[in-house]
Amino acid sequence: MDKIKIIGGNQLNGKIYISGAKNAALPLICAGLLTDEPVTLTNMPILSDIKSLNALLTQLGTEIEEQDNKSGKHESKTYIYRTKKFSSLIAPYDYVRKMRASYYVLGPVLARVGHVELSLPGGCAIGARPMDIHLNSLEQMGAKIEIKNGYVVADAKGGLKGANIIFPKASVGATCNILMAATLAKGTTRIENAAKEPEIGDLIDLLIDMGAKIEGKNTSILTIEGVKTLHGATHAVISDRIEAGSYAIAAAITKGRIELVNAHAEHLQTPLNILRAMDIKVTEKPESIVIDARNALMQGQDIMTDYYPGFPTDLQAQFMALMTVVPGASLVTENIWENRFMHVPELMRMGANINVHGFASAIVRGVKRLSGAPVMATDLRASFALVLAGLAAEGETIVNRVYHLDRGYEKLEEKLRGVGADIERIKESD
Ligand code: UD1
Repeated sequence: MDKIKIIGGNQLNGKIYISGAKNAALPLICAGLLTDEPVTLTNMPILSDIKSLNALLTQLGTEIEEQDNKSGKHESKTYIYRTKKFSSLIAPYDYVRKMRASYYVLGPVLARVGHVELSLPGGCAIGARPMDIHLNSLEQMGAKIEIKNGYVVADAKGGLKGANIIFPKASVGATCNILMAATLAKGTTRIENAAKEPEIGDLIDLLIDMGAKIEGKNTSILTIEGVKTLHGATHAVISDRIEAGSYAIAAAITKGRIELVNAHAEHLQTPLNILRAMDIKVTEKPESIVIDARNALMQGQDIMTDYYPGFPTDLQAQFMALMTVVPGASLVTENIWENRFMHVPELMRMGANINVHGFASAIVRGVKRLSGAPVMATDLRASFALVLAGLAAEGETIVNRVYHLDRGYEKLEEKLRGVGADIERIKESD
């Protein structure tokens, strides 16, 4: 398995281009399943999660055309998805276990053809990750759902029907799935306590361009009036706020200055305000954000993860890495996932001072310097937290299990090397 080697201590300075958002791209890909016409997605990130979902769609009968785009130094992909008809209605275990977001095929396929079978994704490193909200909502829309041999078997032979649904939690995945399903249901669906993450707004934009009737974008109440069919459309994926936030922290932890080109500050207000409270200069421009920590007198800050626009859980581990080297104490509270402190023991192996209280809180007391060590993480964002710690640490850090990073950070070493990091990938065969 590949590893990443980092020699810490370099101050990072320069520009990093932020890619299209993975968590927007995944539901957008599945929205293409709602029509027999082509759906074209541009600004797609080059990531293993996208490849995994494309492989699943190919298995269902989608034809996928891939184009390479280059603007300046930045490369992205354009994919054209066309599902004229399904060759299979089964999303098998081998595909779903690689990537949970495969569950986005559920709503669209059921809505379009009235049957789908999806292997249950099961738990994962950051928590149990149930699907009860997705399944209960589809039942309220008239689907018959059974769990058989580890699969969700969903039937809606006469089509789905509109319903008034109240989510017990503002789940991102359930909001996307039910939104997509409701576009082709008979009648009107109302979702209360819907998630408001920017990736959902991006999905709504594509669905409306495909002919869906949706009201309430960026609010917690969504009203969808079902239509008979949807048509093709072309859509550019929004930029990745979590990738941008992760590199903002790279500037902070190395006391450097990074311009995050193609990042949108309006999607990152809560984390940017924490950086501002740490005396870091944050300049918002129309097409970029500049993070300047060169003269910042940093102090520990408390963070508490929450649904958007609260502090994103997907930046919790990275912020904790920063707090390990900032003077003072910081209280980090994780409110979304029940098991998202697995980076703590690894950070402690690098010399961090962290006390975890129960399942949800950790107190971090800043130390003068971390020291490099071989480390490994069990999920994507925690892996990036270890890269950050390695950038700030004295000596050599080896981050193992790089496949986590490849799922969600496009060209990580190239982007960090471009701003002055001493980082390289050690290939398995080296
Ligand atoms: C998405 C993101 C993930 C992020 C998370 C929260 C993608 C591909 N992944 O995951 O990176 O960390 O949002 O911002 O976009 N829940 C239930 N029942 C359900 C569904 C969820 O109880 O049926 C709970 C979960 O256990 C969790 C909370 O709701 O505690 C939020 O989960 P959800 O928003 O659904 O996360 P995902 O969509 O899986």
